[in-house]
Amino acid sequence: MKKEILQILGQSSERISGEDLSSILGISRVSIWKHIKILIAKGYDVDTSSKGYRLMASPDTPFAWEYPDRCEKIHYTETVDSTMDIARDLARKGCPHLTVIVASAQRKGRGRLDRTWYSDKGGLYFTMVLRLSMPPQYMGRINFYTAAILTQTLREEYGADAKVKWPNDILVEGRKLCGMLSEMEVEGEMTTFLNIGIGINVHNDPARYEPNSVSLRRCSGRKVSKKELLSIFLDRFEDKLDLAMSEEAINLWRKYNSTLGRYVRIVTHNDTLEGYAEGVDENGALLIKEDSGKIDKVIYGDCFY
Ligand code: BTN
Repeated sequence: MKKEILQILGQSSERISGEDLSSILGISRVSIWKHIKILIAKGYDVDTSSKGYRLMASPDTPFAWEYPDRCEKIHYTETVDSTMDIARDLARKGCPHLTVIVASAQRKGRGRLDRTWYSDKGGLYFTMVLRLSMPPQYMGRINFYTAAILTQTLREEYGADAKVKWPNDILVEGRKLCGMLSEMEVEGEMTTFLNIGIGINVHNDPARYEPNSVSLRRCSGRKVSKKELLSIFLDRFEDKLDLAMSEEAINLWRKYNSTLGRYVRIVTHNDTLEGYAEGVDENGALLIKEDSGKIDKVIYGDCFY
């Protein structure tokens, strides 16, 4: 009902009476008032008078009702430990494809290679549950697709000079703007779900913890709406999702990457490797040419240059 009330109020610059709302929506004026009170408590600025209601401003909070076409599948919560944990639980319980868990902050945000992802208020933190019935080896392609679509969104919609560093860190002028983490569960030969968690520094100050990081507000030079960013990204992501399992995903990643052609150092849990990043294979493994001419195929690790 809140979705409908906001839609009606949002479309009108005039005040709308409780009586009109109640007859359009088929609920009592008392119920309308109860919903309005909840919206006000959640941060909506609704001007109320004896003549009715007028929406003055909405908070930048990705409440489910802000996404009319996805309402059932968006789960917004305030501070959580990690959206990855909630997504895993929901996925195991059978939630639908493209369920999204989004939080305003995380107490135990998780990064790649067992690192912490500092998740103060102001950033955008979410995990998507994907059910794509694919063999597990396609996971690399889907991660590459996700990183490429997000980079494209940040470039085209926010004017950020974003590029992807292998495998899927998004940087602006060498400073980290977004990170991605994925987890999957497999049954037999097929993936039951693949969860992709994305952290974007939007209005938070990531440099407090990671000197080599930056926020979107800083690089786009303007105030950014997190709820709009999520909406634009999800629409773009879903629009071309059929590419995600094909080699086109890797081609899209190639278009936005800043790694290939550079001399790089790859650090894994127990190894370090140096050489030219010659290419990526059809599943996203990095091909490194060592000084000796030997080609190594790297499937995970931290990349430095
Ligand atoms: C990295 O670059 O190390 C990956 C960072 C991934 C962070 C996101 S924020 C939303 C989701 N929840 C988490 O705990 N981690 C991911």
